[in-house]
Amino acid sequence: MRIDGPHSGPYGKKVMTQTTSKIDAVRVSVLQARREGKRIACVPTMGALHEGHLSLIDEAKKLADYVVVTVFVNPTQFGPQEDFHKYPRPIEKDIAMCSSRDADLIFNPDVETMYPSTPGAKTFIEVPGLSEILEGAIRPGHFRGVATVVMKLFQIVMPDVACFGSKDFQQLAVIKQMVRDLNSPIQIVGCPTIRETDGLAMSSRNAYLSPEQRAVAIRLYEAMVFAKNQVTAGHSDLASIMSKMAEIITRDGAMTLDYAILANPTTLETLTQPQPEMVALVAARNGTTRLIDNMMMTPK
Ligand code: PAJ
Repeated sequence: MRIDGPHSGPYGKKVMTQTTSKIDAVRVSVLQARREGKRIACVPTMGALHEGHLSLIDEAKKLADYVVVTVFVNPTQFGPQEDFHKYPRPIEKDIAMCSSRDADLIFNPDVETMYPSTPGAKTFIEVPGLSEILEGAIRPGHFRGVATVVMKLFQIVMPDVACFGSKDFQQLAVIKQMVRDLNSPIQIVGCPTIRETDGLAMSSRNAYLSPEQRAVAIRLYEAMVFAKNQVTAGHSDLASIMSKMAEIITRDGAMTLDYAILANPTTLETLTQPQPEMVALVAARNGTTRLIDNMMMTPK
């Protein structure tokens, strides 16, 4: 069994996180860790890692003894006009970043490994309802691709626990629903959104933004902070709060709004009345780059 890349140095001292592109090598390493009585965590990513991803590794390290980070730009979750081909793939940097946080194994398969072009490899996972609204309405088939690849990664890594960012609020909801519906024993842990100092949520796609676009991107955060201030102050006219959020995001025509809503955090349905737990969900196009964000809030 070949494990590519740097691995354990002399006397078991870890030099750099092991990296493999082979499914069998993942299975062997995870089995070995299990035999040592270790609890396994998985952190699925598409690479181009930033502090948001690394915070998931940190959380996974707290919850388990052996952490597998998957780095795979999954073609089935991108629409035909989307950025699959230009999505950044700085794998050497990603390996170094995973090593800096002491991840145990990186699984970096190629497309042919995950989706062999053999006839018959056509099973997909659908999570109806949650997958069809908001991001799902704008990106048809997106969550089908996400759910399928995440379940495939789970079948390969077989973790006890998997960490996901709340940054992708709807994705987290879809994965939780999938795991419940399929009776998977894997514990799904949602982790907080890591932000730049001005509030912009970290995202691999922020790298696409020009300085001008980066300057206006902050309005997504401003709109959510506005909503949170209104809601926590006891304002109950949600329609007017949502329209003001839209106004903040689209001011001067700098960004094109996809949605800016206050929603039920479980069903993601738009609210007309305040309820004890609410989430602001925002999405906009900044030039050709789509940005999404969210913020939880509780009325007074
Ligand atoms: P990717 O966009 O690389 O994100 C990987 C994980 O990092 C996701 O769980 C995402 O929510 C989390 N994440 C991204 N930005 C974050 C931030 N600022 N703070 C905290 N966590 C953050 O999401 C995907 O990849 C893919 O859809 C995947 C689940 C890997 C399936 O292909």
